[in-house]
Amino acid sequence: MSEIKPEQLGTLQKINEKYDALGQDAGAFLKGFSHNKPVTYWDYVEVETLLSLQRPRTDFPDEPIFIMYHQVTELLLKLIVHELQQVVDAENLTPAFFKIKLERVNRYAGVLTQSFSVMREGMDYEQYNEFRLALAPASGFQSAQFRIVEIMCTDILNLVNSRVKGKISEDVGMDQIFEELYWKDAGLDRKTGKKTQTLKMFEEKYEDDLKSLAGKMKSKNLLQQFLSFKESDLGYAEMKNAIREFDHTYNVVWPLSHLKTAEYYLNSKGENKAATGGSEWQKYLHPAYQRRVFFPQLWSEEELKNWGNF
Ligand code: HEM
Repeated sequence: MSEIKPEQLGTLQKINEKYDALGQDAGAFLKGFSHNKPVTYWDYVEVETLLSLQRPRTDFPDEPIFIMYHQVTELLLKLIVHELQQVVDAENLTPAFFKIKLERVNRYAGVLTQSFSVMREGMDYEQYNEFRLALAPASGFQSAQFRIVEIMCTDILNLVNSRVKGKISEDVGMDQIFEELYWKDAGLDRKTGKKTQTLKMFEEKYEDDLKSLAGKMKSKNLLQQFLSFKESDLGYAEMKNAIREFDHTYNVVWPLSHLKTAEYYLNSKGENKAATGGSEWQKYLHPAYQRRVFFPQLWSEEELKNWGNF
């Protein structure tokens, strides 16, 4: 039996202190610890749960690719949210911390854009166009994390549609602002007030939470955090580059890859198929139409005018 080493005593002392502070018995904890089973990879990573989460609706062999790639995207979005959360919650935010977090966010966003070929090139055209018919009215449009990223990144008024941008203020209230969000254009006929089933279901499930998040992010979203720095701060230029890179990747590069993919599957033979979410997708998905810009202060007038085309 091996002896207790002097350096292990220090660890034991720390455990004692920790449990004393909690008013708990460190001895009982250590005894319990001695019964613990060794950690395994499969339990720690929850591999079996993860691999049981694919439930195709058809027998087409390429449908699992579609499901898994959406799941990969949701995990990458979760990584982005995880980093953004630390920036928006930071009490004494430093340029160095901001830069590290933004570099991570850019890394994840880069994986999202570089890997989109899994969709564009990685599925059989005919199979996709059969199994997608079984999925309506579900649409990637209903990804809540995609909206959470937007709301964490910028002032909510930067997410309204271009027809009212600069013309409405926060005074109109969150309910009115939400009706004007650019993404409602995918499913709301503003003349009749009619909404697609895809939009209605999404609003029912997530809108209250998204409004509450927008309220919380008002003064501490990523844009506001960045604006709290001064140009004279060490590392300002790098931070600015990193945040601009993210704006361009998330709001131009990814949307263009996504649109190109939609064009391939839904319109490469000029047949302009209806999307599962029922939007006028060719117009709606183009970044030059959406004009979604998280950090407008960091782009020139010319760049903003050409948004989506560079
Ligand atoms: C073959 C692959 C894909 C096609 C053809 C496609 C097509 C579309 C279309 C036509 C829309 C417009 C809404 C509608 O009417 O349904 C849309 C929206 C959307 N899709 Fe996809 N999609 C694909 C893959 C993905 C993937 C892998 C994701 C990742 C989560 C995704 C996320 C989204 C999001 C977030 C929106 C809303 C975009 C916005 O509001 O700017 N899509 N998609």
